[in-house]
Amino acid sequence: MAARREIAITAFTRAQSDISDQTAVAAALAEYRPSLVVNAAAYTNVDRAETETSAAFQANAHGPAVLASACADVEIPLVHISTDYVFDGSKARAYQESDPINPINAYGHSKAAGEAAVRRLHPRHIILRTSWLYGEFGHNFLKTIVRLAQEREELRVVADQRGSPTSTRDLAAAILRIAPRLAMGEKVWETYHFTGSGVTTWHGFASCIVAAQAPLTGRNPRVTTITTAEFPTPARRPANSELDCSLFEQTFGFRARAWAEEVTEITQAVVLAQQGIAAHVA
Ligand SMILES: NC(=O)c1ccc[n+]([C@@H]2O[C@H](COP(=O)([O-])OP(=O)(O)OC[C@H]3O[C@@H](n4cnc5c(N)ncnc54)[C@H](OP(=O)(O)O)[C@@H]3O)[C@@H](O)[C@H]2O)c1
Repeated sequence: MAARREIAITAFTRAQSDISDQTAVAAALAEYRPSLVVNAAAYTNVDRAETETSAAFQANAHGPAVLASACADVEIPLVHISTDYVFDGSKARAYQESDPINPINAYGHSKAAGEAAVRRLHPRHIILRTSWLYGEFGHNFLKTIVRLAQEREELRVVADQRGSPTSTRDLAAAILRIAPRLAMGEKVWETYHFTGSGVTTWHGFASCIVAAQAPLTGRNPRVTTITTAEFPTPARRPANSELDCSLFEQTFGFRARAWAEEVTEITQAVVLAQQGIAAHVA
């Protein structure tokens, strides 16, 4: 995707450059002199963050502060990825960027502190809040449901939390819309929301994954609705995570695909990859 646009990307693991290590970050910026830094690093275990709170703040608040300050020193813009979990979920409609944040778990507090640090330390930043991320790679909800569909006859999934599944492919495409605008010197510094288009529940998300994998695997387990109360977790989750993405669309002329279309395509690619068949995912 980036190569097609002739954008060169250098990606760092934590071992290569820990974002909370000032010396490592400064050395990486000096060596590569990027025209843009994208921070997707984070502590993302929402439940464990309730007890490992200092680790969550180290990665999600201190890390972005170090990165923002280092980028400001050498005048490199920063795109910082944030989350729907900065909101409390009590709003009846989609959250806008201007809505007050009010995190209800430790992870959300740590990400809110990261956003605040980026705003304070680097004027040339974009904060991109997204939600319910999934993709072909790494561990995520979609891949868990594909696995459970092979193993179980029934999946019980929460149906009273609303949100928008977002593919990492769409999120990458969104960032690739931002990059050239910054390169042209446009002052689009803001906080934006960007998610898959449309809204569903975890149950709707899981049902779509199961339906997409069924023709390829012959597996079609029941997907039963449960309530949040029936599936207690250490961290509370917002009941409504829907983010209004119209500001991003107006500014960058891009919106994500309808969530169900994208989930179907990525699910099929995941299953085909498991079966040793390479799918073409553009
Ligand atoms: N997953 C979601 O549903 C979701 C929803 C909304 C927003 N987001 C945001 O989207 C971004 C990406 O999330 P994700 O789910 O893709 O995350 P992920 O799969 O957990 O990946 C996060 C990566 O960050 C690395 N990391 C952690 N601390 C670091 C540090 N101090 N320095 C450098 N690297 C570090 C981790 O390395 P290790 O493996 O070594 O820990 C891991 O490779 C995050 O900002 C997250 O808050 C995610």
